[in-house]
Amino acid sequence: MVKPLVAGNWKMNGLTADLATVREIAAGADTITRQADMMLCLPATLVAPGAEAAGSSALAIGGQDCHAAVSGAHTGDVSAGMLGDAGASAVIVGHSERRQDHGEDDATVLAKARAALAADLTAIVCVGETEAERRAGDAVARVVSQLNGSLPDEGTAGTMIVAYEPVWAIGTGLTPTLDDVAEMHGAIRAHLVAHFGTGEQMRILYGGSVKPGNAVELMGVAEVNGALVGGASLKAADFLGIADAYRA
Ligand code: PGA
Repeated sequence: MVKPLVAGNWKMNGLTADLATVREIAAGADTITRQADMMLCLPATLVAPGAEAAGSSALAIGGQDCHAAVSGAHTGDVSAGMLGDAGASAVIVGHSERRQDHGEDDATVLAKARAALAADLTAIVCVGETEAERRAGDAVARVVSQLNGSLPDEGTAGTMIVAYEPVWAIGTGLTPTLDDVAEMHGAIRAHLVAHFGTGEQMRILYGGSVKPGNAVELMGVAEVNGALVGGASLKAADFLGIADAYRA
């Protein structure tokens, strides 16, 4: 059994006032820890106060991106070690918004994932096809090629998580059919098992328009080991409502 993870991604949202939401989610996380782990990936400015707000609760705090280098002349960037120092235990790398807005390719994502692992952070590596790729019937091939290029060999089930996020499902209210989710997660699992000794236990999250109303069916699909949640993670009731999919 793979213990599921419900992770939120606040993207470029959140001010000090929103730490109240972190506190509310932390309190809720403590009620579900036997069934699922919970995490919030906060903007870099909120990682330290967010970790303090989460305190000793079951809510883990993550970052949303890191530079591949340990330190140096990279104005405006944040290293994995800095995120860890601020209280993060994980970092998202290769989110499609980074791949699109910052031209990050698989090699960049791989380097960032390596940096995360080297800094003792869990790397949440995002992959996902565009709408055009899905229409062309290339979705699985595209995602497998991203896995090949973005996952460091040294990753293990304890240190690396894959998040499958179809680009066209992010922030749109659209989701793939459950059959399509099952096909993709099955293909990702097969890849992980073939390439990693602990591939059987590696978490594969689904992300893209996960809401309280569709969480039960999406989280019920084979090889879906949790969710990466954008918009719906900004409100405690919605995010905890999604985690409820795992309540026994
Ligand atoms: P969404 O975003 O839940 O708002 O669709 C998911 C993500 O980008 O991680």
